[in-house]
Amino acid sequence: MNAPVRRGTTKLAIVGAGAVGSTLAYAALTRGTARSVALLDVNKQKVEAEVLDLQHGMMFIPPAEITGGDDVEVCRGADVVVVTAGAKQQPGQTRIDLAEATIGLTRRILPELLEVAPDAIYIMVTNPVDIVTYAAQKISGLPNERVFGSGTVLDSSRLRAAIALHCGVAVGNVHAYIAGEHGDSELPLWSSATIGGVPLLDWKGIDGPPLDAEVRDRIAHDVVDSAYRIIAGKGATNYAVGLAATRIIEAVLKDEHRVLTVSSKLENYHGISDVCLSVPSIVDSRGVAGVLEVPLSDEERTRLRASADSMRAVQQRFGL
Ligand code: 2OP
Repeated sequence: MNAPVRRGTTKLAIVGAGAVGSTLAYAALTRGTARSVALLDVNKQKVEAEVLDLQHGMMFIPPAEITGGDDVEVCRGADVVVVTAGAKQQPGQTRIDLAEATIGLTRRILPELLEVAPDAIYIMVTNPVDIVTYAAQKISGLPNERVFGSGTVLDSSRLRAAIALHCGVAVGNVHAYIAGEHGDSELPLWSSATIGGVPLLDWKGIDGPPLDAEVRDRIAHDVVDSAYRIIAGKGATNYAVGLAATRIIEAVLKDEHRVLTVSSKLENYHGISDVCLSVPSIVDSRGVAGVLEVPLSDEERTRLRASADSMRAVQQRFGL
């Protein structure tokens, strides 16, 4: 089914109609993120079923056109293309274990997508997202700002949720970020985290116990471990990543200039270059408009550099 392109509308194309792609489509539709949502998947039967199921909810959501199929033409004219397709992480696997399969897939699909959506902003969600983003930038030849990854937006949300629960405050009042790889070497930026302007490292507790070093370590460990626990329990993560990706897409389509920890290619960021990693960045209609020079403690700087080194080693292993 070819998707018509209308002027003045926003079109979101989602590549991959698995758990993440379908949930992302659902989240975007219920939030009215784009006027037109197209789903692409090699599995025709599956993608057509997902499209039908979503279309049957049209009465209950903001006006939108929902299309999809197994032909890349459904993505024609998209303003934003989000890539969720790729190998599925099995219990016990790390995200890096998926690198070979997903780099190969990125090499195949990206040139086709660029033919039909040459002006789009490309957002990579497929894991290992930092490696896939780096590969996508090389393959596409697009400016760095137009190709980026969902990175640690989800992990930052996991971190904020855990802090909010522990401290008994609304999650919207917690400002804290996870930086680095979306994966095992990621790190919380505790030194710049705040609740309502109070530095988190000084938080003494109001409705809850203090956030001492032991609690912070436990929270950081739980954030890194989250996806493993969810995958062990239900085979995939989908809801929170769907919402996180939707938030990023809205920052682009609505030109929000929102600070998000997306993954982009860093150039001399605290001495780190030529690697895709997440740091607090400004996301707007240009894509990644800039990265914030967040002050880092010595330990944070060391860990961010170690995360960059581990990503660089993977890049080299796969000839990127
Ligand atoms: C997540 O963190 C698996 O990357 C996915 O939920």
